[in-house]
Amino acid sequence: MRAYVMTAYGNVQDVVRLLDLPDPVPGADEVVCDIKAAALNPIDQKTIAGDLKQVIRYDLPHTIGFDASGTVRAVGSNVTAFRPGDEVFVRASRETIGTFAERIALPQSFFARKPAALTHVEAASLPLVGLTTVQGLVDRARAKAGQRILIHAGSGGVGTFAIQYAKALGLHVTTTTSSRNAEFVRTLGADTVIAYDKEDYLTQPGDYDIVFDTLGGAFTLDAFKVARRGGSVVSIVGPPDRQFADQVGANPLIRLVMWFMARRVFAASRETGVAYYRFLTESDGAQLAGIARLVDEGRIKPVIDRVFPFEGLPAAFAHLGTGRAKGKVVLSMT
Ligand SMILES: NC(=O)c1ccc[n+]([C@@H]2O[C@H](COP(=O)([O-])OP(=O)(O)OC[C@H]3O[C@@H](n4cnc5c(N)ncnc54)[C@H](OP(=O)(O)O)[C@@H]3O)[C@@H](O)[C@H]2O)c1
Repeated sequence: MRAYVMTAYGNVQDVVRLLDLPDPVPGADEVVCDIKAAALNPIDQKTIAGDLKQVIRYDLPHTIGFDASGTVRAVGSNVTAFRPGDEVFVRASRETIGTFAERIALPQSFFARKPAALTHVEAASLPLVGLTTVQGLVDRARAKAGQRILIHAGSGGVGTFAIQYAKALGLHVTTTTSSRNAEFVRTLGADTVIAYDKEDYLTQPGDYDIVFDTLGGAFTLDAFKVARRGGSVVSIVGPPDRQFADQVGANPLIRLVMWFMARRVFAASRETGVAYYRFLTESDGAQLAGIARLVDEGRIKPVIDRVFPFEGLPAAFAHLGTGRAKGKVVLSMT
């Protein structure tokens, strides 16, 4: 099969190659999927650049890519939930990345059935951003109907999903984006839109129960200025919290470095009485099935910025790397 691999850590254009690799064979608990579409995520670029070396070290060359949608080709002897021919979507784990390929073998527990009404391109756009949102808003912040949430970068891959998901949970959603995208995020359900090129969100009335920090840098610390006492800052880019250190099995030295990186955020959290969460997303087929139900009910619609052919991965990365994507960037194999 053809598969993209990173041959070293560096720029996509320099280190990513399309190779012929042996077809995967399913382990007892695994499903082999013929991939029809695979979505890009900023973490792919960070992985290839070597930014995650403290979290996971890959034996190079290594396949790349987290998100996929496709058809089950073969299943292992213990697999009962899926059969060849089933249409599925999936997020690979950090250890098993490799969806920028014609095929992949992954544990059955990572998969869910593709929402019937979606194309493979649409379904492939959902797993990583969907699981990130569920694991941030529900598993960490315990979001409840009636609460107020600020979602940064509402027009991005995570933001376009998170706005719709928060509305499905019954939250009041405020989001930031450029004025170019203000009307677009309103169509996704945002109640209040703050155009960052015209207004400063820090001067707007806040008192948010949850701030979903998808931007990092100064945005993480500033989140504590607009969250209410007893609320939560959920970050997917900010400095690591203690649970993050557990999640990546950090040794005592790395834990000390992580604490040093996060010390101002921890202080802000203590002073304001606002909880701080920073986590890495995990693969979860059951949560993915829950996302598929929301899609089937018409409460979440995939937002596709641009589709590239399989051979166009370098161009797709260049496009994602502009930081201006409006929804998801997806590779189509057909
Ligand atoms: N669990 C995890 O650890 C986890 C999981 C998923 C993602 N992430 C991280 O989360 C970040 C966001 O991911 P993504 O997929 O949503 O990225 P993305 O799709 O590349 O985000 C692009 C969007 O960001 C918006 N944006 C840029 N600067 C902004 C600003 N100052 N204020 C408001 N909006 C702004 C842009 O809107 P305009 O063009 O209008 O500026 C654009 O629509 C990435 O760093 C990613 O690695 C982490």
